[in-house]
Amino acid sequence: MSENVYSPTPEFSSRAHVPSMDAYRALYEQAKEDPERFWGELAEKELFWFEKWKHVFEWNPPFVKWFAGGVTNACYNCVDRHLTTARKNKVAILWEGEPGDQRMISYQELHRLVSRFANALKERGLKKGDRAIIYMPMVPEAAVAMLACARLGITHSVVFGGFSAEALKARIQDLEAAVVITADGGWRRGKEVRLKDAVDQSLADCPTIHSVVVLKRTGSNVNMQAGRDCWWHELEANLSEVCPAEPLDSEHPLYVLYTSGTTGKPKGILHTTGGYLLQATMTMKWVFDLREEDTYWCTADIGWVTGHSYIVYGPLAAGATTVMYEGAPDFPAFDRFWRIVEKFKVNIFYTSPTAIRALLRQGEQWPKMHDLTSLRLLGSVGEPINPAAWEWYHRVIGGGRCPIVDTWWQTETGAILIAPMPGAVPLKPGSGTLPMPGVLPEIVDLAGKPVEDGKEGFLILRRPWPSMLRNIWGDPKRYEEQYWGRVEGVYFTGDAARKDKDGYYWVLGRVDDVMNVSGHRLSTMEIESALVRHPAVAEAAVVGKPHEITGQAVCCFVTLKKGDFDHDKLGLELRHWVGKEIGAFARPEEIRFTEALPKTRSGKIMRRLLREIVTSHTVSGDVTTLEDMGVITRLASQHDDD
Ligand code: WTA
Repeated sequence: MSENVYSPTPEFSSRAHVPSMDAYRALYEQAKEDPERFWGELAEKELFWFEKWKHVFEWNPPFVKWFAGGVTNACYNCVDRHLTTARKNKVAILWEGEPGDQRMISYQELHRLVSRFANALKERGLKKGDRAIIYMPMVPEAAVAMLACARLGITHSVVFGGFSAEALKARIQDLEAAVVITADGGWRRGKEVRLKDAVDQSLADCPTIHSVVVLKRTGSNVNMQAGRDCWWHELEANLSEVCPAEPLDSEHPLYVLYTSGTTGKPKGILHTTGGYLLQATMTMKWVFDLREEDTYWCTADIGWVTGHSYIVYGPLAAGATTVMYEGAPDFPAFDRFWRIVEKFKVNIFYTSPTAIRALLRQGEQWPKMHDLTSLRLLGSVGEPINPAAWEWYHRVIGGGRCPIVDTWWQTETGAILIAPMPGAVPLKPGSGTLPMPGVLPEIVDLAGKPVEDGKEGFLILRRPWPSMLRNIWGDPKRYEEQYWGRVEGVYFTGDAARKDKDGYYWVLGRVDDVMNVSGHRLSTMEIESALVRHPAVAEAAVVGKPHEITGQAVCCFVTLKKGDFDHDKLGLELRHWVGKEIGAFARPEEIRFTEALPKTRSGKIMRRLLREIVTSHTVSGDVTTLEDMGVITRLASQHDDD
């Protein structure tokens, strides 16, 4: 644990939304003592409502409603309401494509684009309550598609463009979506990612899809199926730019985002409208300390929750200028991020520890080539940030002057829950510091008993918050068990953490079978299921292995069916296989072939032992339930042989 503490500078604090520890504590106490009043007042002040709600929240554990009966619209809040203010000609989306093309879209322009595309969706017969899959590159139209859906009350599900056709299919089927909004392709490291081809492959068993809308981005040849597929630009060519936002209940489903859980099947995390938008908006102010004149850049992909809350909904609802970049951080060279920061004079920069570590490794010469003095605040998300990377980020990128907000949250939480308010809270590298108002975390054991300060335990949350997930799509039982059944009556995050004597939270990582690779959640079971679908594989066990840059890497132990196999060739083949089944980002770093897997006498694979082997190359834990001790000795010594 690092001992360095960085207090906010007086210059920073004096202009911050929350300028002191006292101000932070006052907000925190108000939210804790009277959540109804706290959130009710904010909702009234910060969001537009067609009609006011009846109750601030209704909590019927484990189901919650926020501002139910209130009528609003997320798109209206992100776009329309700015048009009667000085923001109407402000840049909403500042975009750069990987090849270097650029667009600046004002709030007025965004309103036209979104309204016209909403009319295009209507033209295809789509309406409130339908579900849309968005499978797109990082182009402004991805945000336009999300907002157009929100405008009409169509629930969207963005699928990260790196997912394979197989993964896309599973999501379309689970959601029973009616439309896929996609593009011919997008640019990544100078190559085209052919999205429409993947859509075509995925649609064979998706009878609910009646329309595919295709944006022309790369201009390459794609197959268009008559009747089903249409070009974005042709569809909207003669359509009106007037399309009123649909008045929707605060609890109307805004989006479903699939994320990995502890089984082979991804979970569709459901977020609704009013509460989600309120907390996303508030954290833009509390954590990013957003000012009217800021240029704000979050480098995430809109396929992940960070892109939803902190590229699209949060920043736009708060009236920010949000930067979007299509491509890779190392293309054409390792200074691409810093080039963009300099060019757009970015003030707030939000990225992942993996990106920081990867760029750190390339040396200081890359950021030094650029003027980064526009930056005033840095952020980190997705995984624990090690103090060495934190210090580098602070010194080299932030010039020693920018606070770093280390933000802990999850797909399920919808918005940042633990993070410093940068004008108030002294920072400790590696800690997300203190909870946001309305958030009541605790570190407990499995019986729900608080553990002592400084001791490791499970991170839980005691009370529902506005942007909390409402359900798992189509599976309330799993929702109840996964989140509310582990420790009786409280929300189980799946993370291990400890709290220090100053009340600071240190999140250590997952305690379940979820790995975190480059800040992307991957389920061990999902990769195991993909592996055993390969004809040569008998059994597979997957664990996360510590990795210097990506935090964790995927390591697979595989036993084979009878036959003669060339291990080197098959290892490569299996890595590609997983890429094809799930997506290239899930490709294992390592495949280890073994004759047997360590199992308990009842036949359960002991992943804990495998985890120890890849972490420390030895096994020290309890092995009394192990069926065949020889397996473990052979596996542990295997490393030294290769
Ligand atoms: C991890 C991403 C430490 C954590 C927003 C969590 C973090 C999972 C941090 C959620 C952080 C996220 N420090 N760990 N600042 N942020 N995590 O759903 O394990 O993709 O449970 O949401 O990432 O990942 P998800």
